[in-house]
Formats: sequence, structure tokens, C-alpha cells
Amino acid sequence: MSLSQSHNNGMLYVVGIGPGSPDHLTIKAANVLKNADIIIGNSTYLDQINHLLNSQQVIRSTMGHEVERAKKAIHLARDNTVAMVSGGDSNIYGMAGLVLEVARHENSQVDIEIVPGVTALSAVASLLGAPVVTDFAVISLSDLLTPWDTIEKRLHATSDADMVIGIYNPKSRQRNNNFQRAVKIIRRSREDSVPVGIVKNALRSEGESVIVTTLGKVLEYNDEVDMRTTVIIGNSESGIWNSRIITPRGYHKKYDY
Ligand SMILES: C[S@@+](CC[C@H](N)C(=O)[O-])C[C@H]1O[C@@H](n2cnc3c(N)ncnc32)[C@H](O)[C@@H]1O
Repeated sequence: MSLSQSHNNGMLYVVGIGPGSPDHLTIKAANVLKNADIIIGNSTYLDQINHLLNSQQVIRSTMGHEVERAKKAIHLARDNTVAMVSGGDSNIYGMAGLVLEVARHENSQVDIEIVPGVTALSAVASLLGAPVVTDFAVISLSDLLTPWDTIEKRLHATSDADMVIGIYNPKSRQRNNNFQRAVKIIRRSREDSVPVGIVKNALRSEGESVIVTTLGKVLEYNDEVDMRTTVIIGNSESGIWNSRIITPRGYHKKYDY
């Protein structure tokens, strides 16, 4: 179901294209992209869907111009079928929110459909084994849009609650020590033996790397962590087996196996 009753001929899809490889792009996302008149997105994500580009008009944008991109997509969608691409899932730190905020601000009558995708956490978890089969929280360490104080509060709360933690945006050129600061906070309430997975470029054709370590040793790999990395920190019950992280869901407490 679309979100508004349109009086226009166009349509705007906000499409999550998954972590990177064509195999992990949903059939729905592929169909929307193939049938769009216009595809708009930043170059990194457009490169990931190159195999689906033929006669569509492609508008390349750059990071930091998200508001402009959202406005342009909404305006073009009055008379065209527009697909805005968003990496991973279109909700999770994705473009869905900004597009709907701008549409609300403009009281736009354009039809908007949000198309989900495989998020980095799922992609990374699959490579690590089974670290997030129970309650978890995801926290972005990017303080561009969220104040660092708020991020710290969330880190304290989730660590204290013994939730598995997925860390998005662990670092960038401007935020080089946020990851170290976050690890320091988490170590206050978690043992050094807790398993940690560091995964870069998960399920992408190039640059994929997977490291399994522990909270006490994770900063030895600090140089491996960058803006293409997601880190998963286990809870007090997580363990390592054959270089994989397993967080028990609780079956062992109820059944013999
Ligand atoms: C702005 S967020 C976008 C997240 C995206 N909407 C999603 O659902 O995966 C960017 C962050 O996602 C994570 N990320 C995205 N794709 C990744 C991948 N293939 N491997 C590892 N981390 C990834 C990194 O932490 C990166 O800094």
C-alpha cells in the first residue's frame, strides 16, 4: 500500500539495495529498479546496481547532499517513476526517513513506497555465524546528526542491559576515535572475554574481511575498522566455536541436545 492518495502520474520508491552483491538484492528491489524511469542515488550505491541499468535516466549525487537529493526525487516523482537507492535497508540509517520528512514538510501528494533490503547487521551476522539470534540493539557512532552525549547514553544502556550490540558507522576520517571511546564504555560492564566480530565490506564482491576476536583484544584491530565496517559485540552468553560467534537463544536451558 502506498502512503498517500496520489493526484499525480508518478511514483517514488525508496529502495534498499542490500549490502552490495547482486545475489543479496531482493527480487522486488530489482524489479522496481528495472522499471523505473529515473534512478537517483550516490555513486557508491549506483555502482552496486550497474547490472540493472539500461534505459533509465541516472542521477548521481554525492554524500552530504541528501536533503537536496530527497527534494529532487519528490519533485521528479510527480510525473515519473523514480527509484531512490539506499544502501542495505532503506530504513536503517537509510533514506526512507528523510524522504518522508521532506514530503511531509512540502505536504507532497506524491505516492511513496518504501522497499526494504538486507541490512549490514544481517549480512555481517551471517558471516560471523549466529551472534544476533536474541535481543540486540544497533547503535551508530556517527555524531554528525546525533550528539555524542546521546550516543554514549545509548551505549551505556545497551551494555548494562546485556544486549548484543551492532555498531554501524564505527569510524570515518573526521571521527577516528569514536570506536575506541565506545569500546571503553562497553568494557565497563562487559567481560574482556566477550566475543567481537569485525566485518568489512560484507557480501560485496571486493574487500570483504572477517575478524573474530574478544572485547579485551578488539582495539588491537583498531586500524582494520573503517566506515565500511560493522562491529558486533556479543552478550555475556556469547561464545566462539570454529572461528564463529554463537549467542545462545536459550534452547539449551529447555532441551537436551
Ligand atoms: C549510513 S549507514 C547505512 C546502513 C544501511 N542502510 C544498512 O541498512 O546497512 C552506513 C554504515 O553501514 C555499515 N555497512 C553498510 N554496508 C556494509 C557492508 N557491506 N559491510 C559492513 N558494514 C556495512 C557500515 O557500518 C557503514 O558505516
